[in-house]
Amino acid sequence: MMLTRVKRLWELPESAATDESVFLERRQLCQAIAAGPILLGSTAGGATNAWAAAGGDLISDLYPVKRNERYTISPRKLTEEKYAITYNNFYEFGSHKRIAKAAQKLKIRPWTVTFDGMVEKQMAVDFDTLIRQMPLEERLYRFRCVEAWSMAIPWSGFPMKALVDFAKPLSGAKYVVMETAQQKENMPGLKQFWYPWPYTDGLTIEEATHELAFIATGIYGKPIPRQNGAPLRLAVPWKYGFKNIKSLVRFTFTDKQPVGYWEKIQGKEYGFWANVSPKVDHPRWTQSSERVLGSQKRVPTLLYNGYAEEVAGLYAGIEKTLGKRLFM
Ligand code: MTE
Repeated sequence: MMLTRVKRLWELPESAATDESVFLERRQLCQAIAAGPILLGSTAGGATNAWAAAGGDLISDLYPVKRNERYTISPRKLTEEKYAITYNNFYEFGSHKRIAKAAQKLKIRPWTVTFDGMVEKQMAVDFDTLIRQMPLEERLYRFRCVEAWSMAIPWSGFPMKALVDFAKPLSGAKYVVMETAQQKENMPGLKQFWYPWPYTDGLTIEEATHELAFIATGIYGKPIPRQNGAPLRLAVPWKYGFKNIKSLVRFTFTDKQPVGYWEKIQGKEYGFWANVSPKVDHPRWTQSSERVLGSQKRVPTLLYNGYAEEVAGLYAGIEKTLGKRLFM
């Protein structure tokens, strides 16, 4: 089968990861790139469009948003911005970490978000309209990639529960499936036809409405850069990074457990639940510790990435039946 011949990046040992001097060069490169496409948001007046065409963003005025002090990352430290915006996974732009430059092609206006499936009424909403209806705040979250590296990020955005309430799912809906934009002309990765595009992933409704589930629209006090999933992406800090799906265009409510992008590619290694655990190893490497991005330090990995107190209750009823599957 074609798939088995494809070398995925995280088949490389962590020691093969790019070193910091390369990140720094990347950053300078990113800063040199003008922000891109013409914006056509339906809420924008002519003046705003001109500003947007010049590389501005229709929502810059919303930032910085007020930090919610409830979410702390101690004893970890915030990852420096230069690492978070230059060391990325976004397969639509290439199956390696240095996609930041390529991702500047992502066209982020106009941006329509569709809510469908088991909802009271299907809706297609302009992002700039949507965000102004959401309760924005900043949260510091730890982030743990399945590849055993980690960061701590200041996300701006809103609780996913606010979005679910907005969507008005029917009472029979049990899951929400999220989908990334597909821009064939701008995303070279889509040519890799053996990958199951579009990138999708899902959560149970209980997970999606848990207070920690967050839709990020910004990082480091600014609108989120394209390489990190502009204009909106998921942040679920107790799960592995691949669940944190980027550049969202669709939320579909369903009563069937979805099979996400990585589960389709390799179901034995990447499952639906993907909760972080130091005790359940990836079939090909240990998950007991992680490399902190921007430092040479390895630190022990924590159950649910340190959020056990908050989220363990979500799984109390299904722990026995699911066992290891909850953590991969
Ligand atoms: N979302 C899409 N659409 N495409 C991707 O390739 N990669 C995932 C996740 N979301 C990915 C994605 C993985 S594996 C990780 S670790 C995180 O994005 C990385 O997020 P970051 O680049 O903002 O650190």
